[in-house]
Amino acid sequence: MKKKNLIVFGTRPEAIKMAPLVREFLRNENFDTKVCVTAQHREMLDQVLNFFEIVPDYDLNLMRPNQNLFSLTATIIENMKPVLDEVKPDYVYVHGDTTTSMAVGIAAFYSGAKICHVEAGLRTFNRQYPFPEEFNRQLTGKIADYHFSPTELSRKNLLAENTKEENILVTGNTVIDALLYGIEKVNAEDFVDAEIEKLKTVLNFQKNVILVTGHRRENHGEGLINICSALKTIAMNNSDVDIIYPVHLNPNVIGPVNELLDSIANIYLVPPLAYPAFIWLMEKSYLIITDSGGIQEEAPSLGKPVLVTRTTTERPEAVQEGTVILLGTDTDRIIKETEKLLENTDYYKGMSMLHNPYGDGKATKRIVNFIEAL
Ligand code: UD1
Ligand code: UDP
Repeated sequence: MKKKNLIVFGTRPEAIKMAPLVREFLRNENFDTKVCVTAQHREMLDQVLNFFEIVPDYDLNLMRPNQNLFSLTATIIENMKPVLDEVKPDYVYVHGDTTTSMAVGIAAFYSGAKICHVEAGLRTFNRQYPFPEEFNRQLTGKIADYHFSPTELSRKNLLAENTKEENILVTGNTVIDALLYGIEKVNAEDFVDAEIEKLKTVLNFQKNVILVTGHRRENHGEGLINICSALKTIAMNNSDVDIIYPVHLNPNVIGPVNELLDSIANIYLVPPLAYPAFIWLMEKSYLIITDSGGIQEEAPSLGKPVLVTRTTTERPEAVQEGTVILLGTDTDRIIKETEKLLENTDYYKGMSMLHNPYGDGKATKRIVNFIEAL
C-alpha cells in the first residue's frame, strides 16, 4: 500500500517553498500525493502555481478582501475537514508560520494524520514580533510530529523546547531549491516572460536599482509611513537611482504606499511580480530593502545586500554572516544605511558575499528520504 501525503499551503511564500516538495513527491511512486490550497492568498498564490506548473487537487478558495485572523483561522479548520475525510492522509505537510500552517496543523491533528512541519524551529521568542507568525510557528511546532529545520540554530531552538531529537532533521531551506530551479528556468535561452520584458522598458539598469517590498502586520500604519518617507528622500537625493516597489495586495499596504509614493519620478510602484520576474529583478538589483522573510533567505545566494525594516528576526544567520542588516523602521537610519551602500563600494562589496547559510538546494530530497525511511 502506498503511503498517502497531503501537502497544504495558502500564501505566496508557502507556495514557493513547498513547490519543490510537491514536484519531488509527485515523481515518487512510493507515495500517493495530493495537494490542497487554502487560497489564503488568491492572485499571489496563483502566480506561483502557474510558474511551478502545480494544479491543486483541492482549492478551498478562502481569501476574502481585508480578511481578519479570527474568521480566516476558523474557516480554514472547518473547510479542511471534508478534505481530510476524503484523502485520509498518513502525512500532512505544512509550511512555516502562516495562519494556514497553524490552522491546517490543528485540523490535521484532529484527523489523526502525522504532521510534518517544513521550515520548523525559527524563533524570535517574542510573540508580538512578527505578529501573529511567531505564535503560529510555535504552535505548529507543538502540533507537529516531524520537524524539518533549515539550519542548525533552528534545530537547537526545537531541542530547547524538548522536541525529540530523532524527529528533527536539518535540511536547509527549500526556498533555495526553488530559487535554483527558478533561476535556471529564467536564464534559459528560450524563456520568454512578458513581465521581464516590461521591466526592461520601465527601469534604467545603467542606474543602481533598489528593490523594495514590505507587508508585515506589525509595520502597518506608522512603520510603513516611516519606510515610505525614507524611500521618498532616497529617491529625491539620488537621481542616479531607480527604486522599484512591487506592492503587496493587502489593502493596509497598497493604500498608504500608493498615497505616499505615487508621484515621484524615480520610484516605480508595480503590482506583485510573478516569481520568475521577481527573481530576475533581484539578480539585477543593487540592493534590497524589505521586511520579507523569504527575500532575506534568497538574497545571499544572489550576492545582494539586504536592509531589513524590522527590529527582530527569526532568521539571524544572515545577519551574523553580514549580508543582512536589521534596521527597524526609523526613517533616518534607512536613509543613512542605503546611502552608505550607494556611496561606499568597499562597504557594499563586504555585504555582497555569495555564501548562503540557508541551504544548498537539496532540502527537498532530504525531506523525502526521511519520510521514505520511516
Ligand atoms: C500573509 C501571512 C504572512 C506572510 C504573508 C506573505 C498570516 C497571518 N500572514 O500575510 O505571514 O508573510 O502572507 O505575503 O498568515 N490579498 C489579495 N490578493 C492576494 C493576497 C492578499 O487581495 O493574492 C489581500 C486581501 O485583501 C487579503 C489581504 O491581502 O485579505 C491580507 O492577506 P493575509 O493572507 O491575511 O495577510 P498577509 O499580510 O498577506
Ligand atoms: N516574491 C514574488 N513577487 C513579489 C515579491 C516577492 O514572487 O512581487 C517572492 C520572493 O521571491 C519570496 C517570496 O515571494 O520567495 C516572499 O514572499 P513574502 O515577502 O510575501 O512573504 P514572507 O517571506 O515575508 O513570508
